[in-house]
Amino acid sequence: MAKLRILKYGDDTLRKVCRPVETVTPRILTLLDDMLETMRAADGVGLAAPQVGVLRRVVVVEVEAGHPIELINPKIIAYAGEQREQEGCLSLPNEWGTTVRPAHVTVRALDRNGKEFEITGSDLLARALCHEIDHLDGKLFIDRLAK
Ligand code: NI
Repeated sequence: MAKLRILKYGDDTLRKVCRPVETVTPRILTLLDDMLETMRAADGVGLAAPQVGVLRRVVVVEVEAGHPIELINPKIIAYAGEQREQEGCLSLPNEWGTTVRPAHVTVRALDRNGKEFEITGSDLLARALCHEIDHLDGKLFIDRLAK
């Protein structure tokens, strides 16, 4: 595993739309491993591939230590409710803001074996999933600040 450099706000890469993964290759598995290591080293609860300069739809989330969730081509398929909480981002260190997010989301994605799965999360997990999936479309939490 290798720790990757996290791109910071202002880098154009963070505003690009990422391409889906067509086949889960060894390269994608290495990316997942490296992203997990990078996220943990930075004390984050989520990281998206564009944040390490890779324009692919790949995300890792870990809101419960020791239980990482790897998502390839994640898509929000259902959401409900609303939450307004403080949010930050490893690409915008020292910046925090209150965002409007769904309280519950269900996401469909591929796992590292290329198998489809669904995950439903509430509160912090819902927020993290939405935040990271936003990154894949070039969106940052500062685009979703509560008025
Ligand atoms: Ni972020």
